[in-house]
Amino acid sequence: MTHEDASGVVIEPGSYSTRIGVAGDVAPLCVVSSSVLKSGDTPQFHIPVSGSPPPDAEVWTPVVDGVLEDVELAAMQWEHFVSKQIGVELREQPLTITEEPWNTNHSRSKLLQHVFEGLEVPIFQLAKSPLVAAFECSKPTALVVSVGGSVASAVPVVEGVVRSKALTRTPFAGDFVDIHILNQLDHAKDNIVPQYQVDARLHGLETLPAAQEAMKLKARGSDSFHNFQLSRLLDNIKRVCSVVNPVPLKGPEIKGTKSYQLPTGYSLLLGPERYLSAEPLFQPTNFSLGTQTPGPNSLGLSEIVYQSLQKVDAPPEVVNSLASNIVLHGGTSLIPGLVKRLESDLMSMSPIVPKVYHSTKHPVWTGASVFASLSEFHESNWITKQQFEEQGERLLKE
Ligand SMILES: Nc1ncnc2c1ncn2[C@@H]1O[C@H](COP(=O)(O)OP(=O)(O)OP(=O)(O)O)[C@@H](O)[C@H]1O
Ligand SMILES: [Mg+2]
Repeated sequence: MTHEDASGVVIEPGSYSTRIGVAGDVAPLCVVSSSVLKSGDTPQFHIPVSGSPPPDAEVWTPVVDGVLEDVELAAMQWEHFVSKQIGVELREQPLTITEEPWNTNHSRSKLLQHVFEGLEVPIFQLAKSPLVAAFECSKPTALVVSVGGSVASAVPVVEGVVRSKALTRTPFAGDFVDIHILNQLDHAKDNIVPQYQVDARLHGLETLPAAQEAMKLKARGSDSFHNFQLSRLLDNIKRVCSVVNPVPLKGPEIKGTKSYQLPTGYSLLLGPERYLSAEPLFQPTNFSLGTQTPGPNSLGLSEIVYQSLQKVDAPPEVVNSLASNIVLHGGTSLIPGLVKRLESDLMSMSPIVPKVYHSTKHPVWTGASVFASLSEFHESNWITKQQFEEQGERLLKE
């Protein structure tokens, strides 16, 4: 074994990425895509962006909206990375896995069973994501706001207790921005082609028709493979270009352009698209996606945060304390301008003065890591294999 024989493994499975590392470390050893490529019976845990896929290749994501839907597949992925990257075997290590507060009993009990019967770990615990994120920021009371790939959520934690009844969540997160980018780039759609379909990057293609004419595309993979590769391309465009406007946007505005060279060699020049792609996070209904446009009562990011503050059953001083301790994290929170916009929206919505602590690293994973390494103080969270054999699913507490 390596990594000083480890002292436990901590895993934070997300819909987009999974963070894996050693209990007690300040950062995960690896952050990997949660998606798995399956061709025949063999799963592949690194999905290359170039090269033709085998004809039967499909891409599966075992985490859907933050909930583990395919525990067996996720567990194969964890075993692979724990063995390759940490150099230890899961069956020899205490295991901590983070879960969202909206996790289902079904998913939790499948996980518990697989952890002991499939992975054969000796001892296991679940850690609630908002709780450990607040813990990592040394805040027993905090409103934890996560903006990830497929979910945005706001969850109050009061004196170390998750207030699940006041949680609010929406599907308007990173994937939603990607859909809007694709929609905004309709004029260039023939050039929005993932790397794996492009033979060689073409040079000197200044006009769109020239790029389209010169392009020779390789065969398209299965829908799941193609959509995965397309979403990675849109992700990259988003990271380079998307920006959140400081105040609610009413329509297209150009405040500086950015160019992005597509795998085909064609360079996109992005102006209004930069703001129009991120604005729907705050106004999900006001920017049309045709039939995919969310319903009129759909809430934007600032609204779910505000609603969570309104829903929490606590005295006004606790609500004030939550508003001044907003812990914001998740990949999509890295879009420039998002933090300022959230603060300014919240100020215009209520007399409360909000204060947002933006955590740009991995506060859920790191909080769980600290939690796991201090676990002698929280023994009641751990479940041993023997307890599982004796008491089964009755061990699962809400
Ligand atoms: N620098 C960045 N700028 C903009 N978006 C980013 C950046 N880095 C990551 N993202 C986006 O963040 C999202 C992934 O965030 P994160 O890894 O927190 O999600 P997750 O925890 O796996 O998913 P979820 O919380 O929805 O289950 C993706 O949509 C990704 O494109
Ligand atoms: Mg997440």
